Amino acid sequence: MAKLAICGGKAVVKKSKKWAKWPISDAADAKLVAKITTSNRWSFDGPVEWEFAEKFTAYQGAKYGMCVANGTIGIQIALEALGIGAYDEVIVPAMTWQATAAACVDVNAIPVLVDIEPDTWNLDLDAVEKAITPKTRAVIVVHLYGSMTDMTRLQKICKKHNLFLIEDCAHQHGSFWKGQGVGSLGDISSWSFQESKVLSSGEGGFNMCKTRELFYKLYSLRNCGRPYPADPAVFGLTKPANMQQYSLQSGNYRLTEWQAAILLGGLKRLDAQVKQRDINAIYLNSLLAGIPGILPMYRRPEITQQSYFNFAFRLDTKELKVDNKQFSVALNAELGLVDAFEPPYEPLNNCGLFRPQTKARHNLSKAYWKAIDITKYKLPVATEAHEKSGVTIHHQLLMNSRSDMEMVASAVKKIVDNIDQLRAVKPGQLKKYQALSH
Ligand SMILES: Cc1ncc(COP(=O)(O)O)c(C=O)c1O
Repeated sequence: MAKLAICGGKAVVKKSKKWAKWPISDAADAKLVAKITTSNRWSFDGPVEWEFAEKFTAYQGAKYGMCVANGTIGIQIALEALGIGAYDEVIVPAMTWQATAAACVDVNAIPVLVDIEPDTWNLDLDAVEKAITPKTRAVIVVHLYGSMTDMTRLQKICKKHNLFLIEDCAHQHGSFWKGQGVGSLGDISSWSFQESKVLSSGEGGFNMCKTRELFYKLYSLRNCGRPYPADPAVFGLTKPANMQQYSLQSGNYRLTEWQAAILLGGLKRLDAQVKQRDINAIYLNSLLAGIPGILPMYRRPEITQQSYFNFAFRLDTKELKVDNKQFSVALNAELGLVDAFEPPYEPLNNCGLFRPQTKARHNLSKAYWKAIDITKYKLPVATEAHEKSGVTIHHQLLMNSRSDMEMVASAVKKIVDNIDQLRAVKPGQLKKYQALSH
C-alpha cells in the first residue's frame, strides 16, 4: 500500500519537474512587436490585424471575421448584430464562463439557462428543445473545455424553430466537426484570446460570421458605429451604396497591432499545438478508462479535431466516495502541481460572478427583473459536475510528453488504489493539505 502525498507519502512526481508553460511566444513574435513599436501604426484597421483576421477566419473555414476587444464583447455584438434585444430569450448552457449569459443581460435580453449533458458538459439538446418558447431568438452553444454537443442536431433544431445559432468558441480554437471548423457552424461565432486560451494575446477577441450584412454590422459595432471603410478592402468586400443601414450606435471594441502580432505568431503554432493536445488527450483518456471509478468524457465520432481549453474527466462518486475537491487536491499533490486540477465552472444559477439582479440599468421593468432571476432554475447535471464529479485541468498539461500522460494516469490510479486514505482526510482539513502541496 502506497502512502498518498497529501498524507505525507512520496509523490509520484518531484516538485522540481518542469511542466509545459503557457502562454508562449517566439523570437519572430518579439521582432514583429518591436517593428510595430517603432512604426506609427499601432491600431485601427492596421495591416497586421487584418492579416491575422483573414488567416484565422480561413483556418476555421468561416467566411468573414474580425478582431474585437475581448470574448465578452464578441458575444454582446453578435447579439446586437442579429438584432437581439429587450425581452428576447436566448438559450445559454448552465455551465459556461459567466460572460456567455452576462452579455445577454447587457443587451437587455433574457438568458434562459439550460442544463448540460452529463458526459460532455455541453448543451443537452433535449433540454434546449423544451426551453424554446415563442420569445426565443437564439441559442448560444459553448464548445466547452474539450467536448462538443451534437452540432448537426443543434443546427437542425435552430433551423426548424427559426433561431439564430451563435457559437461561443472561447475554448476551442482549432476544433473541427465533420471536417468543418467550429465558428463556421452557426450564424455568428465569438472567440476569446484572453491569456489562458489556446490562441492568446493576453486579452482580445474575435467574431466570425456567415454573411456580408452581418460582417458590416459587426464592423460598425466594434468601431464606434463607423461604417466599413473598404480601405483596406478585406475578404474582397467592397463598400455597398446603402452602407448607412449597417451603421449601428456602439463603442470602441477594437484591439491593437501588438495584440494582432502576437496572435499571428500564435496562429502559426496553433494547429500543431492542437494536434499535440488532441493526441495526448486521446492517450490519457485511454489510460484513465482502465481505472475503476474514473470516467473519461465522451468524444462524439463527428469530431475530426478536438481542441482543449481544459482537459476533463469525471469521478464515479458512488464508487469512490470522495468528491472532486478532495480528489483534485490529492492529484495536485501527487504531481507536484499547485491548484492545477480543479472542479469545472460553477453552474450559472449559483455562480459568484453571474449576479444579473445587481445593476440598475438592468431594471427595465418588474417583468424583466423577474425574468433574469436565476434562482428559479434547477440545473442538477451542471450542479453535480461542479460540486461532486467533475475534475478539470488547463490545456498546458496536454502539451507535455506522452510519458507525462502516463505519470498523470499513474497518479490517478495511485489515489484510486488508496482511496481509503483520501476518504479519511476531513474536508475541513483540505486547505491545510493544499498549503502543504505548495
Ligand atoms: C466560454 C467563454 N466565453 C466567453 C469568455 C469571455 O472572453 P473574454 O475573457 O475574452 O472576455 C470566456 C473567457 O474566459 C469563456 O471561457
